[in-house]
Amino acid sequence: MPDKALIEVKDLKLHFPIMEGLIFQRRIGAVRAVDGISFSIRKGETLGLVGESGCGKSTTARAIAQLHKPTAGEVIFEGTDITNLTKNELLKVRQNLQMVFQDPYASLNPRMTVGNIISEPIEIYIKYGLLKVEKGEIDTRVDHLMERVGLSRYFKNRFPHEFSGGQRQRIGIARSLALNPKVILADEPVSALDVSIQAQILNLMKDLQEELGLTYLFIAHDLAVIEFISTRIAVMYLGKIVEIAPASKLYKNPLHPYTEALLSAAPVPDPQIEKTRKRIILSGDVPSPDKKRTNCYFYDRCPKRMAKCKDELPELTEVGNDHQVACFLHTA
Ligand SMILES: Nc1ncnc2c1ncn2[C@@H]1O[C@H](COP(=O)(O)OP(=O)(O)O)[C@@H](O)[C@H]1O
Ligand SMILES: [Mg+2]
Repeated sequence: MPDKALIEVKDLKLHFPIMEGLIFQRRIGAVRAVDGISFSIRKGETLGLVGESGCGKSTTARAIAQLHKPTAGEVIFEGTDITNLTKNELLKVRQNLQMVFQDPYASLNPRMTVGNIISEPIEIYIKYGLLKVEKGEIDTRVDHLMERVGLSRYFKNRFPHEFSGGQRQRIGIARSLALNPKVILADEPVSALDVSIQAQILNLMKDLQEELGLTYLFIAHDLAVIEFISTRIAVMYLGKIVEIAPASKLYKNPLHPYTEALLSAAPVPDPQIEKTRKRIILSGDVPSPDKKRTNCYFYDRCPKRMAKCKDELPELTEVGNDHQVACFLHTA
């Protein structure tokens, strides 16, 4: 059982400024995309991050990779806070923290050959003096990576548009592995793919994890996908983590009313259960994340809200073996 934290996120915030005015721009507020979250990603595990669209999942991944500079908080990778590094220091860290993106159509440069797309990270690290590699070695590495993700190396000189969605995501995965990273931050890597193709990519990612000892943060809004791939699952709502638990525990015994509602909305394959199960329909829409909140972020929509929830903010608290929840129903 992997339990050593490879990444620790501590009270991380990422607020995007809202500006007004055409010439003289002034700041009139902020979108609180990530609003104070803490969790760890353990070595060798897949931490699934789930929540409705707009709740801050992508921003979380980007803030961990330092693609967006966090507004506050720490991201500790292998014992070092990486939120205030110089460009060169950051480049070194990023060798170990690679991202895979949702849309394999938009994230691959259409004018580059597949071989160049996969080798580009290596070329960049050579250029900055962070990697010494013989020219021939790069070709060998690209061949190996292509075959490892299930693409023939004879396709090396082709362009992205010549491939299907699933194949393109394989190219994206090969590129993310080029520098032999320790962590992959996968932002909805299968959401744009057909269901039959999703399973292939998920299995490939599982195999690669085992073979290369990778650690994953895996983002999805599809609960079946998250359950299949995750060791533990973090549930996000409006910029906050509301519950974290081992995957099986979360599905069997969800504690937060938002987790309950999410799970109740997902279809169940067993028709008998599907017929009789109860759906929890949440009232209203996800509120706008531009308001500073001092009470429970889920208060407006919670079917089980209490008086206390209107005034106080529940902290994410350990309530059982490896199970944390931010809800006054379960904490004092
Ligand atoms: N670059 C940006 N500038 C301003 N607001 C942003 C930016 N990126 C995301 N947001 C806002 O932050 C919130 C969280 O977005 P995001 O992290 O993409 O959510 P998710 O990935 O869960 O769908 C949303 O309200 C979104 O509109
Ligand atoms: Mg997203």
